[in-house]
Amino acid sequence: MSHLHRLSTIAIVGLLSLVGAGTGSADPVASKENAWSPLTKAATQIPTDPRERRGQEVFEQRCAACHAAVPKDMIGPPYMPAMAGTQALQARYKGAKPAELEQRTDLTPPFVAAIVRGGLNSMPFFRPTELSGDDLTALGAYLARKH
Ligand code: HEC
Repeated sequence: MSHLHRLSTIAIVGLLSLVGAGTGSADPVASKENAWSPLTKAATQIPTDPRERRGQEVFEQRCAACHAAVPKDMIGPPYMPAMAGTQALQARYKGAKPAELEQRTDLTPPFVAAIVRGGLNSMPFFRPTELSGDDLTALGAYLARKH
């Protein structure tokens, strides 16, 4: 490879990463357009408290892909894959607790924070650069809400 060619390659790579940074494409999952939001919520399922409402949004963007409720007749192709988290919690609690996190009434903010920051077996952990401290607080408030 000639010197000039190598230099121009570096310049192009540099330019591409600048463009990426400018459009915020470093974290595509965080954008509304790309977020996984499998089921639309009824108005009564949307919390009135703004922090819990934010927590619900974060849940839809970051957690629902594994922890959503899936109607039994919609599991498997061509509809939706079974949710890894929901299935794992069904297998662990065997109905003693709801398999869907949003149905639980025993979750506390510190427990949610510990799992989210540390991960659990096949559940990945989330760094503060992926899920901010404020969003984690909102998530804890949402999952521990009275319902
Ligand atoms: C890639 C799939 C995946 C994603 C994304 C995911 N989880 Fe999980 N989660 C799991 C699995 C699988 C388990 C069960 C792990 C086990 O018990 O072995 C789990 C377990 C949990 C538990 C433990 C519940 C209990 O009673 O033990 C909590 C709390 C939890 N997840 C919260 C979250 C939150 C909040 C998010 C979003 C920030 C999230 N998870 C995102 C897969 C996922």
